[in-house]
Amino acid sequence: MIRHEHHTIEQRARRLHERFEALYGHRPEGVWQAPGRVNLIGEHTDYNLGYVLPFAIDRQTLIAVRRVDPDAAHADEIALASTMDASGDVPEVTRMRLADLAPGTPGGWAAYPAAVSHVLATEYAGRICGFDLLVDSTVPVGSGLSSSHALEVATIVALNELFHLGIDAERMVRLTQRAENDFVGAPTGIMDQSASLLSQAGHALFLDCRSFASRAVPLPLTARGLNVLVIDTRVAHALVDGGYAQRRASCEAAAARLGVSSLREIDEVHLLDELVEPLRRRARHIVSENGRVLRTVQALECGDLNLVGQLLTESHASMRDDYEISCPELDLAVSSALDAGALGARMTGGGFGGSAIALIDESVRPQVESAIRRAFDRAGYAEPGIFVVAPAQGAGRV
Ligand code: GLA
Repeated sequence: MIRHEHHTIEQRARRLHERFEALYGHRPEGVWQAPGRVNLIGEHTDYNLGYVLPFAIDRQTLIAVRRVDPDAAHADEIALASTMDASGDVPEVTRMRLADLAPGTPGGWAAYPAAVSHVLATEYAGRICGFDLLVDSTVPVGSGLSSSHALEVATIVALNELFHLGIDAERMVRLTQRAENDFVGAPTGIMDQSASLLSQAGHALFLDCRSFASRAVPLPLTARGLNVLVIDTRVAHALVDGGYAQRRASCEAAAARLGVSSLREIDEVHLLDELVEPLRRRARHIVSENGRVLRTVQALECGDLNLVGQLLTESHASMRDDYEISCPELDLAVSSALDAGALGARMTGGGFGGSAIALIDESVRPQVESAIRRAFDRAGYAEPGIFVVAPAQGAGRV
């Protein structure tokens, strides 16, 4: 498998263009990119209509696409292939008629572009036809950095443009959410696709998931000599497993008992005292996390990066103890990063595995990295993937 992390997006797009032509025998009409994300803070708040503060990372999914001639015999056939699927040099192509797409068919990575195609074919019947698609990605898969949403967002942005659907950003977010919920079967919220679609380079995206109002908040990392380090624990996380859905159900039950439409309506933790455990702890994470997002935005705006670090670490403790979605590997990544001098650290994304992030001064990066590696080695855990991410621009045509 050849990775292209050190190439620019434009170089990767040119290479993808050539590979598309070699595979399908004609040129693509364009190449689109959508980034993965880390969430700085605001975890599991999105489906509670609260606040999130993610940013798009400098690792993207690229897709090259060409529409099928609408008069061709196979006009409603989609062809999906990935450079990462290649057993030899030639990727395998999955071909399906739009009308035959259904949850579970196709499976694997192809489910994501298929899910978006299915939703668009349903919503915009008669306006979309078949297409050929080739994917290339530098977003690690299964690490909790939203590789699946990057692929869905790249697909919807490309199809929206090619088929002149005129879908605005909020609706693209809702449609990819529906693709993910109904077709892929993961009951996820709107944070990941919003980050991939709306982020601005050098900024985090402060999003209110109730009103969909958003604002770009400057992340002064380079200027302050800081890095955001991702620690991929290699513990596979899957959002279709039960834990995520159970947490979501607990939040809904807590809101119902409190007589509110969502936990967003509660802004003080003492109002949760009447709940039984574990609902009280679950709800306390959501309510306190919304508060931490607001305080993080303020701290960033005042340039108080130490306070940002502290809030990240508090967020981790809340997910570990109240929401109970961490795991020993994530806890070790966080504690060893903090012991080696990180300003703050927390797990990021859905939890139960995946990645943690640490906010560090770039001067301590070597010691933080080796402290984490040593700790993992000593604990007998798989070697973690450790890399720096920068806040990048959201999806669009390359
Ligand atoms: C996953 C989901 C998001 C969000 C996070 C937790 O990444 O896709 O919608 O719920 O988990 O914050």
